[in-house]
Amino acid sequence: MRLTHAADSAFNKAVPLAVVLVGKRRPPVLPCGALGDQALDLWRRKFFAGKAKETLLIHSPKRTGPKALLLIGLGQPKGVGLDLFREVGAMAVSEAAKLGVAKVVVGVAEKVTFGTEEVQALGEGAVLASYRYSGRPAKTPPPKEVVVIGEFPGAASSLRAARTLGEGANLARMLGDLPGNICTPAYLRDTARRVSRKGGLRFKVYDKAALKKLGYGGILAVNQGSVAPPFLLEMEYKPARFKKTLCVVGKGLTFDSGGISIKPSSKMEEMKFDMCGAAATIGLMQAVAALKPKGVRVIGIVGTTDNLPSGSAYKPGDVITTGSGKTIEVVNTDAEGRVVLSDAIHHATSFDPNAIVDMATLTGSVLVALGSEAAGLFSHDKKLVRHLRESSDRTGEGVWHLPIFKAFEEMIESPWADVRNSAGRYAGSSTAAAFLFAFNGGIPHAHLDIAGTAWDGPKRAYNSSGHATGFGVRLLYDFASRFGAGS
Ligand code: BES
Ligand code: MN
Ligand code: ZN
Repeated sequence: MRLTHAADSAFNKAVPLAVVLVGKRRPPVLPCGALGDQALDLWRRKFFAGKAKETLLIHSPKRTGPKALLLIGLGQPKGVGLDLFREVGAMAVSEAAKLGVAKVVVGVAEKVTFGTEEVQALGEGAVLASYRYSGRPAKTPPPKEVVVIGEFPGAASSLRAARTLGEGANLARMLGDLPGNICTPAYLRDTARRVSRKGGLRFKVYDKAALKKLGYGGILAVNQGSVAPPFLLEMEYKPARFKKTLCVVGKGLTFDSGGISIKPSSKMEEMKFDMCGAAATIGLMQAVAALKPKGVRVIGIVGTTDNLPSGSAYKPGDVITTGSGKTIEVVNTDAEGRVVLSDAIHHATSFDPNAIVDMATLTGSVLVALGSEAAGLFSHDKKLVRHLRESSDRTGEGVWHLPIFKAFEEMIESPWADVRNSAGRYAGSSTAAAFLFAFNGGIPHAHLDIAGTAWDGPKRAYNSSGHATGFGVRLLYDFASRFGAGS
């Protein structure tokens, strides 16, 4: 889908669908002929008040001008949140898809707040709403072009960023949605390689033999029950000049059955989504490669395998030695994400980065705590927490800071090894985070538990229920690009 911008006069052309954003209280004076007059009349007769996300669709009997006009309310003229613009962009695209039209123009009725950030948000929402899962024929194909009306300084680059970030998220959604028999560790490897080649990123694969050489016993242990080989993937963006190095680590369990500590069958099929952290990392790196943020080197690291029971599978009671040298007592083979990440996070430390951020569908507990509105954010580093929360506010990808008390660190102590991989149900997300932090070598580290947000996420016009959300791509891009800019 193309995102373009044009001057006011485009409204009067014979476009298939015109979308106008209308503030509350002010009459919707619209630059689109007879349809505009009709809209004003309907507003006067109180058929449309301009409340947030309120819509009114009018079809035109005329041959000139727009064929249909969709009014979308913005609520108050001031203080309209960025995420509303994302939803508005998505609503415009969804209506165009429903009407089966190839082109939609979007503009404002009056001088509501509409700067470059709003243009970008609107564009992001439009691109996100154009996502269609490729595994089945699309019932309502998205429009081919969205034109944003109005003159904004920097509109072209805002729309380019919107398209790139939306496409990065859509790639992550596709990888998430694909079933475990198609999106295997090898499929993730091939996708990461293709994205890297196209974007000019350095790419490296560590296969089973390489993982053995490095002594990465964590990822190898989880892979033991599987016939599909595991991989550790590295994608590196390195500009000529940079002040900061950021490592982003993603959990890539292409299917998590729980292993010997097998999960109940109800909803087990959802565990194909257990690689959404990896998918977001790959989607992020695609966007980083295209938008080239200044001053920051970004390394995406993915640990990928599936988790299956078999005669060779790792077992409760096993003690394994990870790449860091630390040992893990396996209490529950279903707490496998942290075991894989122990090696992936340790691997990140080898770049001596200024920060590590990992994304993982790590615990069911975070769903219990936060539902799908926010990812759990864990970090001992106050600055990382603040910056990630600011990025969250801008991108509309929710995060909520949760604690790692000393007591939680004690809960993962083991009589048999340096740590144990489960401390039971209580504070499940926090003890999982405490476990991960045992492998960061003291480097500033934030962990995002995205188990509640990665699929079937919050109800937003740009999300698709039951599908992957691409959570983390826009959040981490915003964070990474500012990380390079200083502070
Ligand atoms: N991938 C799951 C977490 C998960 C569960 C995400 C449900 C989304 C929905 C993870 O590997 C897991 O199984 N975690 C266990 C840990 C427990 C055994 C300590 C959990 O959260 O129940
Ligand atoms: Mn599990
Ligand atoms: Zn898992």
